[in-house]
Amino acid sequence: MKVIVDGTAKTMLAVWFENGIVKLIDQRKIPEKLEIFDARNSDDVAYAIRDMVVRGAPAIGVTAAYGLAMAYNNKENMGEAVEKIRKTRPTAHDLFKAIHYMEENGFSLDAANRYSQEMINRSRKIGEYGNTLIPEKGRILTHCNAGALAVVDWGTALAPMRIANNEGKKIFVYVDETRPRLQGARLTAWELVQEGIDHAVIADNAAGFFMGKGDVDLVIVGADRIAANGDFANKIGTYEKAVLARENGIPFYVAAPGSTFDFTIPNGTGIPIEERSQEEVLNVEKIRIASGGSRALNPAFDVTPFKYVAAFITEYGIFTPSKIGSIRKMMDQDLFMRV
Ligand code: MRU
Repeated sequence: MKVIVDGTAKTMLAVWFENGIVKLIDQRKIPEKLEIFDARNSDDVAYAIRDMVVRGAPAIGVTAAYGLAMAYNNKENMGEAVEKIRKTRPTAHDLFKAIHYMEENGFSLDAANRYSQEMINRSRKIGEYGNTLIPEKGRILTHCNAGALAVVDWGTALAPMRIANNEGKKIFVYVDETRPRLQGARLTAWELVQEGIDHAVIADNAAGFFMGKGDVDLVIVGADRIAANGDFANKIGTYEKAVLARENGIPFYVAAPGSTFDFTIPNGTGIPIEERSQEEVLNVEKIRIASGGSRALNPAFDVTPFKYVAAFITEYGIFTPSKIGSIRKMMDQDLFMRV
């Protein structure tokens, strides 16, 4: 990912491994500061995932992979390390995929490096396929952050936009702010600034206004877990955007790598939904906005039924929900995904 530091562009990953330490861009500090969080053991890794130092399904998976390689290297008790990391966040399937991959590959650093590189290559492919859906002056709405920060590089929903922009298409992105953690306003907008992509942050409840005016050509979002029938979990608020898109005749695309598909779950009702702290809703940036004595409900994700999805954009190509069986077949033939 391109990162502008003191006016100079440098290339950086969201997660990497250096001198025995898992290094993470601290996503809690973006856009105010570019700070690196050092995770030195499995406790630090579990904390970083739970507290959202790192977030986004594929990036969580890569962090877990490096964290387990580090724990193995440091001779930690691997049963405990795996359990600690497994319990951090329940919804993103990539976390469990990465843990399984590392278990199958002896927790080696080579395996973690391979896992990370696969995610980078696959998100670039998603970008290339997704770009074919974006018109020359495409106006795209996205929700949450499914960019390089959420993967390691490229992103899922943002990868097609980056490639479209690199090809010279004059795209415009509507960025939902994404309460309560503001991943859209804080992270997606920051990434689009780094890439020089024209965009505007909109309040979460403004999407219908712009869709209704005919100002949005397509919606692209990421996913945290996709069930066998195509129902999928993504950041809270995704479901209503999908319904609005259908109402307004706007195609709604879901960009995700094979690691996000969970064919063991038949439909969306089986996807575990993380419930986060009330404080994230009652406060904005640590300032209390709700009345004392009020409580909040804070589901971190919602489930969108497959009927609202125009197509899934994957590293294998673009598939309508009725063709999800083809994704499964391709994953079965894909050595990396089969493990
Ligand atoms: O709670 P988060 O920030 O980890 O949620 C992330 C999302 O919902 C993203 O849209 C999803 O993981 C796709 S990331 C490529």
